[in-house]
Amino acid sequence: MAENKNDRLRAWTIEDAADTYQINNWGRGFFSIDENGDVQCHLRDTAPPLSLPQIVDDLRRRGIHPPVLLRFSDILDRRIHEIHGAFAEAITTESYQGRYQPVYPIKVNQQRDVVEELIDFGADVGLGLEAGSKPELLISLAYVEDDSSLIVCNGYKDEGYVETALLGQQLGRHPILVIDRFEEIETIVRVSQRLEKKPNLGVRVRLHARGAGKWNESTGVRSKFGLTADEIMRLVEELRRHDMLECLELLHFHIGSQITAIRAIKFALREAARLYVELKKLCPSLSWIDVGGGLGVDYDGSKTNFHSSTNYTLQEYANDVVWTIGSVCDDAKVPHPNIVSESGRALVAHHAVLVFDVLGRSGPNEDTDFAAAAGHSVTPIRALYDTYSGLSRKNVLEAYHDAVVFKDEALSLFDHGIVDLEGRALTERLFWATCWRIARIVRELDNVPEELQGLERSLSDTLYCNFSVFQSIPDHWAVKQLFPIMPIHRLRERPRRSTILADLTCDSDGKVDEFIDFHDVKYSLEVHDPEPGKPYYLAAFLVGAYQETLGDLHNLFGDTHVVHIAGHEKHGYSVERYVEGNTVSEVLDAVRYDRRDVLRRVRSSAERAARRGDLSLEDSARLLRRYEEGLAGYTYLTGPDRAQSEPEPETGPMLRASTSAELEA
Ligand SMILES: Cc1ncc(COP(=O)(O)O)c(C=O)c1O
Repeated sequence: MAENKNDRLRAWTIEDAADTYQINNWGRGFFSIDENGDVQCHLRDTAPPLSLPQIVDDLRRRGIHPPVLLRFSDILDRRIHEIHGAFAEAITTESYQGRYQPVYPIKVNQQRDVVEELIDFGADVGLGLEAGSKPELLISLAYVEDDSSLIVCNGYKDEGYVETALLGQQLGRHPILVIDRFEEIETIVRVSQRLEKKPNLGVRVRLHARGAGKWNESTGVRSKFGLTADEIMRLVEELRRHDMLECLELLHFHIGSQITAIRAIKFALREAARLYVELKKLCPSLSWIDVGGGLGVDYDGSKTNFHSSTNYTLQEYANDVVWTIGSVCDDAKVPHPNIVSESGRALVAHHAVLVFDVLGRSGPNEDTDFAAAAGHSVTPIRALYDTYSGLSRKNVLEAYHDAVVFKDEALSLFDHGIVDLEGRALTERLFWATCWRIARIVRELDNVPEELQGLERSLSDTLYCNFSVFQSIPDHWAVKQLFPIMPIHRLRERPRRSTILADLTCDSDGKVDEFIDFHDVKYSLEVHDPEPGKPYYLAAFLVGAYQETLGDLHNLFGDTHVVHIAGHEKHGYSVERYVEGNTVSEVLDAVRYDRRDVLRRVRSSAERAARRGDLSLEDSARLLRRYEEGLAGYTYLTGPDRAQSEPEPETGPMLRASTSAELEA
């Protein structure tokens, strides 16, 4: 940990913890540290903040053990209204003549519980849905119930897709079929003529302006979707030919997710607005402009155009959208269109927090007892000891070089049978102790030699954690996206260890070794010394967007438990919904094993072993009981060694997806 001597002498404060983990920057006022050193969550101005460790403790008393995904429904509510509020303010300031409507792209988090809450909270601002596939269209038709909220239909479309959307219009819905590949017009015309119904149409345009950030492939000439200017002209002709030109009501663009730089957004907006006014001249029915997604989340709190951040605020984004479209339309003397945005990440990222517990640690220890090394008979070991004891600020780099060479020589003597196991163990301990000393000196240097810059990293521990990166934060594995991760308690104490996190999978990629930092990325996380017999909890924050459905069953670790929390003015909070995590049987079923079949196989093996006299009848019964419990149990660790230190649950496990009303009943 990059800390200097003066820092270490001063008492550690909560402000130090906040700086270390940057919580006040990425937390957006939703998360902070309370005076007990616990992470707290602020749900509403009128409700007291909630302590995360307290919630986790309460859940354990109910029999719900980490890993658990906490959903804060109030945050969803607040984000919808913050985004809508920012556009409303921009519309007033700019005297913009159109209105704004948010549309939630279901792909960002399709979980029913999330979509239901969003529809509910967004009713007063006419929140619509964006579907990128047939399954998502079917969800949208079921959940968006009035025609003032749009259903934006993107993605590949076959006849079934088009027919469903067209017929959906008669349910009193407002689906807009967005033509995002030129060929789609043929299918749409065919279905429309067969059903004798006119569709609501949109067109996705292909911009030459590019996004900025990890996901900028959604735009530019090689992008997957969107019509070129030439295709737009041909589309107008086709629609006119089939007497469907007046069906075209929306122009759509999307330049990728997590746009880190406002400059990219400004360029794209201007180009899209120009396309809008030109198309409006050919097609007077055009009245909506959909600016797609891309509104970023400041995962590291740095407010920069780094890939895990954004160099603009929500208000700046809304101002730019409204001002650019308004001014381009004014210049062309075209009425202001209504504006749709499909912000997904910015809407749902903040509401979900994954809490997981630490199972143990490993890493190089700092030893000081080297009596056996002074005057050791093996020269490199003796020399390594002399290096260790003669280390100073002046010779730090030379000492490091010497230590590496003496360690390698001693290990090679081990390979040749000259050094025994004890000698090898001593060599390793001495080497790491020298490195620890060097690292401490290095922290106080103004100019750190290049070779020593990664030393701290190589001294970090590994914390073994009860979760799966592949299931819960797959984007960290896939695209090295950074999420804020930190301990949720003990933050009044100075964290004395640096660590990386290893998950439960037996995959070497199943780890987190890059963490958010104010200026760049840091390669280890500051954590506390373990307290024997006491749980230690970490949490990954801002995990509400994209992670859940992208997550996979690597090593057959399934969905974690999910708990929906709602804040209350008087009694703190209530558990509104509990969705039990996958059982082992469920994940086996997903890969086509049958619970009864595997049980039957083990039962007959046990019978045969008992007949051979290899297994007593009591042990056979115990094995089968364990096996059945295993099948019915959580896929994550809940072993007796950990359970022993946990309080007995006061209530039995809750029903799946029960609401608080059902629970009370
Ligand atoms: C067409 C479309 N709209 C909206 C989104 C959501 O983007 P974001 O989550 O960045 O707001 C996406 C995702 O990339 C998309 O492809």
